[in-house]
Amino acid sequence: LNNGLMRTPPMGWLAWERFRCDIDCQNDPKNCISENLFMDMADRLSEDGWRELGYVYINIDDCWSSMERDENGRLQPDPKRFPGGIHKLARYMHDRGLKLGIYGDMGTHTCGGYPGTTLDKIQIDAQTFADWEVDMFKFDGCYSNATEQEQGYPLMSKALNATGRPIGYSCSWPAYVGGLPPKVNYTQLGEICNLWRNYDDIQDSWDSVLNIIDWFFDNQDALQPAAGPGRWNDPDMLIIGDFGLSLDQSRSQMALWSIMAAPLFMSNDLRTISSGAQSILQNKIAIGINQDAMGMAGRRILKEKSGIEVFWRPLSNNASALVFFSRRTDMPYRYTSSLRQLNFTTGSYKIIDVFTGKMASLKDSTDFVVSVNPSGVVMWYVSAPARMNLNHLH
Ligand code: GLA
Repeated sequence: LNNGLMRTPPMGWLAWERFRCDIDCQNDPKNCISENLFMDMADRLSEDGWRELGYVYINIDDCWSSMERDENGRLQPDPKRFPGGIHKLARYMHDRGLKLGIYGDMGTHTCGGYPGTTLDKIQIDAQTFADWEVDMFKFDGCYSNATEQEQGYPLMSKALNATGRPIGYSCSWPAYVGGLPPKVNYTQLGEICNLWRNYDDIQDSWDSVLNIIDWFFDNQDALQPAAGPGRWNDPDMLIIGDFGLSLDQSRSQMALWSIMAAPLFMSNDLRTISSGAQSILQNKIAIGINQDAMGMAGRRILKEKSGIEVFWRPLSNNASALVFFSRRTDMPYRYTSSLRQLNFTTGSYKIIDVFTGKMASLKDSTDFVVSVNPSGVVMWYVSAPARMNLNHLH
């Protein structure tokens, strides 16, 4: 969507995967969906080095609202859990250099059973979010049919635009119609949404991450060209820092989300995150690759019988990123290749290993060996080949 927003994939924090629809503030005050949770996470983003790296969105998901609209037909937050209201919460974010996202649903109800946005409510809801100075809006698709979705998603895009407030627009539409052409028109989506959920919800397990990786790269011919500045595929949240992934698996999620040019929305508890998970999420080289200005998504370029897969993403300044990923379940695998075998042109390249920081020079013709852990990755930033400059000899 050409609204000037999200020219690189948006980054931040989203409540859903980690905190779900916990509304029991009586018994679980620290973890329930309430303004306190979002203020806690905002404090962490701004005080623990996240904001400076680009993690600026704090996004509310389902279960924030009251079960009833107000007397003017407007959505309203649950008064017990959000006593200050959403506008004040948005101000809290803006005061800290952060942005606030909110959630709604194209349909009669949200997936969690809260009031939805039927076609006749699209304008008033868009205006409400703008009045609250919200910066991003995720439009889910439970409890609507394909015809309503076909009308509703473009209408909401227009309505948000008409408010005059820049609001990043995340569409769950494709996920509700199978995620693939011809049912999904990615050209149209790129014109009306900044990002879109293509596929199933992520869960806190490696199985779930692997299933998402498989679906996106098995369908890369349809999906990879759809991404670009202002329009991104969204394979769903980062679960790094939760309970389901080892550190190797966490590096794999970070690496492949960066290859996909995916939005980086963490859903974890930033108050208690381990230093290991934090340093993966705060890896500057991985983030730099994810945020590359050219905004071209990468692809899987090789699937070896050994269970090693190679992914490649072209980056600006003729640089690129490589990921060696292991599906093996035995031991670190020593994978041998050369840049020439991976279709690099003749030359000498500078390599930075993203997760160890080690640097090396590598000629296209030279064989190298990477040791890839089970369900882990080795990720490289590869800079443009050094060219011989003979001009100064003349
Ligand atoms: C759907 C979405 C999730 C989340 C829940 C909330 O399942 O795909 O990301 O928003 O609804 O109920």
